[in-house]
Amino acid sequence: MVESRLNEKEDYSVWQELRSKAKEELIPMIITLELTYRCNLRCKHCYVEFDKGGEELTISELDGLLDELKEMGTFLLILTGGEIFLREDIKDILIMIKQKGFAQRIFSNGTLFDNSWYDFFDDLQPERFEISMYGSNPEVHDSITGKAGSFERTANAVRELSSRGHEVVVKTVWMKDNYRDFVNWMNMVEELTEAVPLWTSIIAPLDNGSFSNRKYILTNEQIKELRDTQLEYFKNKYGEEYKIDDSTPCDIQIPSIPCSAGFSYAGISPDGCVYPCIQIRLKAGNIREESFRKIWNDSKIMNFIRDLSNNPIDECSKCMYNKKCMRCPGISWLESGSLSVANWQFCRQVRI
Ligand SMILES: C[S@@+](CC[C@H](N)C(=O)[O-])C[C@H]1O[C@@H](n2cnc3c(N)ncnc32)[C@H](O)[C@@H]1O
Ligand code: SF4
Ligand code: SF4
Repeated sequence: MVESRLNEKEDYSVWQELRSKAKEELIPMIITLELTYRCNLRCKHCYVEFDKGGEELTISELDGLLDELKEMGTFLLILTGGEIFLREDIKDILIMIKQKGFAQRIFSNGTLFDNSWYDFFDDLQPERFEISMYGSNPEVHDSITGKAGSFERTANAVRELSSRGHEVVVKTVWMKDNYRDFVNWMNMVEELTEAVPLWTSIIAPLDNGSFSNRKYILTNEQIKELRDTQLEYFKNKYGEEYKIDDSTPCDIQIPSIPCSAGFSYAGISPDGCVYPCIQIRLKAGNIREESFRKIWNDSKIMNFIRDLSNNPIDECSKCMYNKKCMRCPGISWLESGSLSVANWQFCRQVRI
């Protein structure tokens, strides 16, 4: 779902090679673990079902799951929520993950950290933090998170983690309330950290099926305005080297599932449900009822997703923008109930 990456530090050739090998051999190399749906903020656009029932997996259930994932070849765990630092046992979970030898990527709003947390992270050395910031100042940011004081706490977290040498990606979602803050936001990120800013202007429907957050999605005019501001910003920064991708018709078969969902990636909810992706909420099973290995290898949903890779989407296969389009099948599914269709948010984004 993320559409922009700048100065990406990963070595893409090695990374891509690993990912395609894992995809070929159906190794669940990367797993997103949603550890809680509780959150101390209420961001306007957020897809999380905060009050969704279901008991969170205990540390001993997680222990068993992690051993199984390790055996199956998982090496990166993406930890997200909700806000995972609301879990009383989160320190023990993070230590356990480290002791078992996984790389861990931590998604957080950063508001719950204090000095003892920073010291703890210095020992933990996660692979990276991804922290969400929706504006360059409290007026914009706090009006989106719904919590006064959240900007200061989050900015402080980014500053502190960066100054201690951790890799921190600052993320945002461009919506009606903040898109005019683009330049100030970029400048703020540059001041706070050397790491990569990351953003999307695609807003996913809520996990409960409602699209009540649709009203925050940018209009065509606003997308155009944001695009012009971005082009101007990058031109000033990188000069003539910065080029727009002039797409040409590209007659290739675009599969329904163009990503690693169900091939080398899966998502697991706080209460143990396994999904091909946290955007594709088709329940493949629950680790409280059967092993992750069995769900991964044998479930109808995982095999359905894999079969879809032989099922190209005509509309996308003929589309002249398909080289640069980052259509997410999860968003198509959430919006229309089909994984195998184009999606208007992606279509208009590449055409504008
Ligand atoms: C669900 S949050 C959980 C982690 C943490 N609480 C945070 O805010 O970063 C993970 C990311 O999803 C993004 N997100 C939430 N709802 C979204 C939506 N409807 N569409 C697109 N991105 C969304 C958030 O902005 C955040 O960057
Ligand atoms: S902090 Fe994260 S999980 Fe909480 S409401 Fe905001 S985006 Fe959603
Ligand atoms: S722009 Fe639309 S039709 Fe073209 S590849 Fe993307 S989703 Fe498919």
